[in-house]
Amino acid sequence: MRSQVVIIGGGPSGLLLGQLLHRKGIDAVVLERKTRDYVLGRIRAGVLETGFVNLMREAGVAERMDAESIVHDGTVIAYGEDQFRVDFVEATGESVLVYGQTELTRDLYDAREACGAETLFNVDNVVINGADSDAPYVTFTHEGTEKRIDCDFIAGCDGFHGVSRQTIPLTVRKEYEKVYPFGWLGLLSDTPPVHEELIYSNSERGFALCSQRSWTRSRYYIQCSLSDHAEDWSDQMFWDELRRRLPAETAETLVTGPSIEKSIAPLRSFVTEPMRWGRLFLCGDAAHIVPPTGAKGLNTAASDIHYLYHGLMQFYEEKDSEGIDRYSEKALARIWKAERFSWNTTMMLHRFPDMNGFDLKMQRADLEFLRDNHDAQKVFATNYVGLPF
Ligand code: FAD
Ligand code: PHB
Repeated sequence: MRSQVVIIGGGPSGLLLGQLLHRKGIDAVVLERKTRDYVLGRIRAGVLETGFVNLMREAGVAERMDAESIVHDGTVIAYGEDQFRVDFVEATGESVLVYGQTELTRDLYDAREACGAETLFNVDNVVINGADSDAPYVTFTHEGTEKRIDCDFIAGCDGFHGVSRQTIPLTVRKEYEKVYPFGWLGLLSDTPPVHEELIYSNSERGFALCSQRSWTRSRYYIQCSLSDHAEDWSDQMFWDELRRRLPAETAETLVTGPSIEKSIAPLRSFVTEPMRWGRLFLCGDAAHIVPPTGAKGLNTAASDIHYLYHGLMQFYEEKDSEGIDRYSEKALARIWKAERFSWNTTMMLHRFPDMNGFDLKMQRADLEFLRDNHDAQKVFATNYVGLPF
């Protein structure tokens, strides 16, 4: 088999790149280790920056997103019984969209099927060969047979645990990591959101987040211990703990109901450099991870796809490799800023096991500075709505 581009991983990064390339007549096969249903069963991100939204539109897959998403012009930050609002529109002129990763992944799969683009599910033993040569190829097992696809380029969109990053030799690759001493326990329920906007809450019992997927579907998170298991948390225990971490007037209006999904995600900051090795390009979680506090995970994937897509088009349409040659540098410059914001908001809003009285005072000063200072709110909002590509 031959394809101009092989995309490893059928998550949002791989599917978005595939769709953008397809619209320009570039063929790209997607290799996905799991089934479509498995990928769609993963409940993850929910907040989209304008940059992501625009890419979905450019890829021609924005119809349902535009009809069903909810525009958020600001967010609430609570600490103890106090709370304040950061107005994104007033500070930056921009807002964000609430639209679940599950939904946009479904839209991308549907569009892929409708245009006859090839996706191979349940692939195993993916190996990238000759990435540092002019004739790369990918081998893998599919439906019991060994297969090989020759290509011009490989996009490594296979998430944090994929093979793409590992293919880059350790003599070339440098990794930067910070692991946080807690996780987030998330619960999805068919209940109306407690508030029309998101609430990020720093409480003495730990962080909590009130998010949503629609007017009738809520997503809540509470900071938990890394040794916790989701199945040990009954719905009742979750709701009780969430209430304790919200200002009383908010807790009183919380509508609870049975969970549809509950899972724990560890929190990590991670970046690998460079994001390109020869004809292999890393995108999204394959190259970097942020703690979800700044809602940046999915959105950093979008800027990678933007740079790679434009670099590839410059190569195919203008025979100019400047875009792909500068891919890693451009992508990383934006990623590190998203890493900083995600780390910073995580530090401001969580309880760390080793915090002393001084640390708590610093955190409170940070929150009160943000509450009282318009310029600080502008900085927060500028980062939250997303830096330009
Ligand atoms: P992924 O979505 O991880 O997709 C990679 C795909 O590659 C997967 O489908 C995988 O099955 C496939 N794959 C892996 N290895 C191979 C292989 N060897 N061969 C073929 N295919 C392979 N972000 C937020 O902004 N907010 C959140 O609340 C949030 N919650 C999260 C919760 C969890 C548990 C995780 C893991 C992430 C969360 N994120 C969140 C981050 C966000 O979901 C990711 O940034 C986003 O999914 C990145 O998309 P991706 O396509 O780069 O990677
Ligand atoms: C979500 O809705 O899943 C969500 C929203 C904002 C975040 C993290 C997760 O910062």
